Amino acid sequence: MTQRAELTVEMFSAENIHGAAELAKRCFTTPWSESIYRRELENPQSIGFVCKDGTAVIGMIHCNFVLDELTLNTLCVDAAYRRQGIARRLWNAVTEMMQGVCTVCYLEVREHNDAARTLYESLGFVQNGYRPRYYSEPEEAAVLMEKQL
Ligand SMILES: CC(C)(COP(=O)(O)OP(=O)(O)OC[C@H]1O[C@@H](n2cnc3c(N)ncnc32)[C@H](O)[C@@H]1OP(=O)(O)O)[C@@H](O)C(=O)NCCC(=O)NCCS
Repeated sequence: MTQRAELTVEMFSAENIHGAAELAKRCFTTPWSESIYRRELENPQSIGFVCKDGTAVIGMIHCNFVLDELTLNTLCVDAAYRRQGIARRLWNAVTEMMQGVCTVCYLEVREHNDAARTLYESLGFVQNGYRPRYYSEPEEAAVLMEKQL
């Protein structure tokens, strides 16, 4: 098990966005670029948090919202830190902040991403659609999910 200082959760900032983008590269085959995440810092319809071990970004969540609809774009945790409740903690940070603003959250997840699908089900998301061949690298269907907040 990795030795670690106390884990902290903080909002996206200019200081942690590079670490967040590097983490996305480690976790996804087609990650958003650092410039996209950096642009999101200026977007008032955007919300993101990182989880840090000391200064290292080891988890992140990013969402956009329009009116009362929240869309979950990115949620990832470094492999060595998984199954410790970090994704759940990041999700809770978002929902706490969006309480009274958003009433529903939507997301898309790869059909065969069992870890993420189990996580989302455990958070109360339900399937509301299916898009064949939605993802590339590798080609895969998307399962669409929603949760009333
Ligand atoms: C999916 C992911 C974000 C989960 O992060 P995590 O910090 O390990 O998740 P948590 O520890 O908060 O797990 C909460 C619950 O989700 C479910 N879960 C998470 N990982 C799971 C796995 N590998 N297998 C089965 N269930 C899993 C469990 O119900 C778990 O609760 P439990 O540990 O008490 O059983 C992480 O595996 C990841 O970053 N994967 C790669 C990137 C990715 O696929 N992101 C989602 C894109 S849509």
